[in-house]
Amino acid sequence: MEIFTDKAATRTHALSLKAQGKRVACVLTMGALHDGHLGLVRKAQTLADAVLVSIFVNPTQFGEQADLDAYPSDTDRDLSMLRAEGVDAVFLPTPDIMYPDGPDTIVNVASLSTILQGAVRPGHFQGVSTVVTKLFNILQPDVTVFGEKDFQQLAMIRKMVRDLDMPVDVQGLPIVREPDGLAMSSRNVRLTPKDRDAARVLSRSLDQAEASTVRDAETLQNLITETIAAEPRADVKSIDICDATTLAPLTGAITHPAVILLSVAFGDVLLIDNRVITP
Ligand code: PAJ
Repeated sequence: MEIFTDKAATRTHALSLKAQGKRVACVLTMGALHDGHLGLVRKAQTLADAVLVSIFVNPTQFGEQADLDAYPSDTDRDLSMLRAEGVDAVFLPTPDIMYPDGPDTIVNVASLSTILQGAVRPGHFQGVSTVVTKLFNILQPDVTVFGEKDFQQLAMIRKMVRDLDMPVDVQGLPIVREPDGLAMSSRNVRLTPKDRDAARVLSRSLDQAEASTVRDAETLQNLITETIAAEPRADVKSIDICDATTLAPLTGAITHPAVILLSVAFGDVLLIDNRVITP
């Protein structure tokens, strides 16, 4: 497995794979890898001949310095996990390599960057769309796999690729969960044991909503709110029910696929989860 820190060397490597007739996939991550990330790598391997992985904790998508500083990192462990998966190469840049002139040029998916999670995290999605554009330009993928865990991020990347005619096939992977239902996240290691236990309420509330016969947006929202409120350690930031494609908020009867988006803090750890439900 090759490890690159240099942008030009990485692009040369990707282009030489393509010159050999190989289909190239990329999986973009911020490290602290878990089985969710490895799920993306495994799906990418079924779609391409060579999988390139980036590990970069992108400063421009973090609001507060404290959140960036608290982001977990274990590069040696990440690299051995990727080596075991048979990844072709890893791109591991520093912020200076990625932003030698600081952040200036911005990619903004206007309709999706400031709603929902974007309203509570100003600048976050612009940071994501900009770094993803840069990483696509460096890694030159034919196909990429993003997790449905970050539902709004995936919707935004699909829209960006369509709007800007980027020659990349964007594929999604369903949320990979712990045995008790908690969505895997690099942030989970920061939960105290009590909060880790309490956080099960997220997937439980989504299971309950999906299984119920209720298909009215407000009633469903109340049902989820009550279930989560019964867990005193849960600090609800937002519960949204939206059109699964446009992410426009829904009211009344649910007549086409909808997504329930949860954002709930446990202590100082903000967790997200979601579920697509059909009428
Ligand atoms: P990160 O949080 O490291 O996630 C990298 C990829 O892994 C994303 O596509 C995310 O949706 C996916 N992922 C994380 N947990 C998952 C789970 N439990 N099941 C399925 N997929 C999961 O998302 C980012 O990094 C960054 O914003 C990035 C796109 C790398 C840009 O900086």
